[in-house]
Amino acid sequence: MKRFAMKDYGKAEDVFTLIDAQPREVKSEHIRVAIEAFGINPYDSQVRSGLMREVQPVKFPYVLGHDGTGVVTEVGDEVTEFKVGDAVIIYPISGTYGEEVVLPAKKAIKRPENMSIAEAAAIPTVGIAAYNILYQELKIKKEAVVMIQGASGGVGSVLVQLLKANGNQVLASASSRNAEFVKSLGVDAFVAYDKEDAGKVFSNRADIVIDATKGSRTAKNGMEIMKEMGTYVALNSLPEEDKRTKQGTYIYFQPKKEYADREAFKGLLSAYETGQLNIKVAEVLPFTLASVVRAHQEIEGHPTAGKLIIQKEKNVEMA
Ligand SMILES: NC(=O)c1ccc[n+]([C@@H]2O[C@H](COP(=O)([O-])OP(=O)(O)OC[C@H]3O[C@@H](n4cnc5c(N)ncnc54)[C@H](OP(=O)(O)O)[C@@H]3O)[C@@H](O)[C@H]2O)c1
Repeated sequence: MKRFAMKDYGKAEDVFTLIDAQPREVKSEHIRVAIEAFGINPYDSQVRSGLMREVQPVKFPYVLGHDGTGVVTEVGDEVTEFKVGDAVIIYPISGTYGEEVVLPAKKAIKRPENMSIAEAAAIPTVGIAAYNILYQELKIKKEAVVMIQGASGGVGSVLVQLLKANGNQVLASASSRNAEFVKSLGVDAFVAYDKEDAGKVFSNRADIVIDATKGSRTAKNGMEIMKEMGTYVALNSLPEEDKRTKQGTYIYFQPKKEYADREAFKGLLSAYETGQLNIKVAEVLPFTLASVVRAHQEIEGHPTAGKLIIQKEKNVEMA
């Protein structure tokens, strides 16, 4: 079984390699999935570059990938919700970069028939993070005015849509090149951070500020926008305590074991089925090592809005 592995930490072009791996055993609570497509996340490139080696050291060869979709080829004895042949969306702790993965059934859900393979591969990480921020961490109320920084991004664009579906007023920022996209998501007000100062335009207007930018670049702005005693959520890093210009609740969001992926998946798919959630796919690349390298190089720059997906063509060998 072929997989795209990293043989060391380093640059994408130096460390990715195609390996022939032994199929893993399927335990009673597991399923085996033949991957049709997988998605690339900024976190993958942080692991590959070695930035996360202190918090998440890996053993080489290591196969990245949390986001994927495919077809169930084997089910463990205790699995009742899936059968061989079911199309599923999956969110394992690693391993979607390849032809197959074995994962706990609770980290999968059936793929809706009207959802494309590329959309399905795009949804897990960004969707589950956005859902858990709103419904687990914040227990969001519809009266809250929420500012989303990085509203054009994977997480940011899902946050905006879930908030609008919930009835919240949403303020948003992103670059001017993505203004039309973010406005199309239904935000109530938008500022292009490369044209105007969102901190001034939205000063003291948000009960909750969520920094969903890559690398938490907008902390000063975010605190200007947050009301005194408001809530500030960061996906990367919070402003240091001595730099906090307002009192409030400061939350660094990260996935927790008690957040059930199945519950998040259900919420996301129900929003998808009712037309309240669209997943933007930037590009679908062929299922090759060259695509994995290219996708990582792109994600490390300032890519076009939308997810990068690597999708298998039927009956084509991996290269
Ligand atoms: N803690 C967690 O559990 C968790 C989960 C998922 C993701 N994350 C992290 O959250 C971040 C966002 O993830 P993602 O997948 O949504 O990334 P993404 O799709 O690349 O989105 C990045 C966002 O950052 C914005 N941005 C880029 N440069 C900026 C700048 N100089 N100033 C302001 N905004 C800027 C982009 O806006 P423009 O392109 O319009 O400039 C875009 O909206 C990543 O760092 C990721 O690692 C954390």
